[in-house]
Amino acid sequence: MRTTIRQIQEMKDRGERIAMLTAYEYSIAKLLDAAGVPMMLVGDSLASVVLGYDSTIHATMDDMVRHTQAVVRGTTQALIVGDLPFMSYQPSTEEAMRNAGRLMREGGAGAVKLEGGVTVAETVRRIVDAGVPVMGHIGLTPQSVHQLSGHKVQGRTAEVAGRILADADALEQAGAFAVVLEGMPAPLAAQVTRRLHIPTIGIGAGAACDGQVQVIHDLLGLFTDFVPRHARKYADLGEQIKDAARRYAEDVHDGTFPTSKESFSMDAAVLADVEQALAERGKHGELALSKTAEGEVPA
Ligand code: KIV
Repeated sequence: MRTTIRQIQEMKDRGERIAMLTAYEYSIAKLLDAAGVPMMLVGDSLASVVLGYDSTIHATMDDMVRHTQAVVRGTTQALIVGDLPFMSYQPSTEEAMRNAGRLMREGGAGAVKLEGGVTVAETVRRIVDAGVPVMGHIGLTPQSVHQLSGHKVQGRTAEVAGRILADADALEQAGAFAVVLEGMPAPLAAQVTRRLHIPTIGIGAGAACDGQVQVIHDLLGLFTDFVPRHARKYADLGEQIKDAARRYAEDVHDGTFPTSKESFSMDAAVLADVEQALAERGKHGELALSKTAEGEVPA
């Protein structure tokens, strides 16, 4: 049974912090699920850390649906939140609803996320009214990176802090079940967290949020183009992968991979038959192999 949005709310209500991670593919999602991560985000950050673009605005609906499907296939316990990518919900509420529906029906997500506050509140309300749980995302909203003139902490002036508080209120009133607070001063995120009934999930927003979300590639040391200050590396798989690939290439080069243990054997009589047929080919022009049934591949 997957985590429900009610259980996420109950975690806030009893003061239990909520751990969320991004996931983009089957194998890693399966490991995160086995580790007991209750909520995963198929973030549009996949455009950067998986597809190699310089910002999230390059993620498409088709990308998000396909990767959400993979993460859903790899999990049985976690609530899977699918990210609505750039321009999949901004043009109109109808388009937003259609695309939220795609992430749920085609992707198999249990909820969707979109960026923005006051300006998207009506869209959030309509999607929620249609039966789709929505997670908001305010503060540093990467889809607006050009509008914000870069990935900069938001809310250090009274004016922007006020806008963030208004955005948080608007999302809660519109029916969002949780809201991501990204890239904002910790005391402001703490204010928002105290103010809202729904859980706040922070990323670069300090320890007072009800939960935390991190990009899995940052956690595992897999993405080195840019390491955000808020990230903590729990493993250095990047170095381990390089080391493994180096050793593999050396073994192939030296002829020490594969060995007989990593190869498949063949019945000696069949092999003799093939060798004889090859020898006969010179005389008759084609292989004259006896018809034997294809056997099981020996382990
Ligand atoms: O796409 C993403 O990974 C996100 C998180 C950073 C919250 O939106």
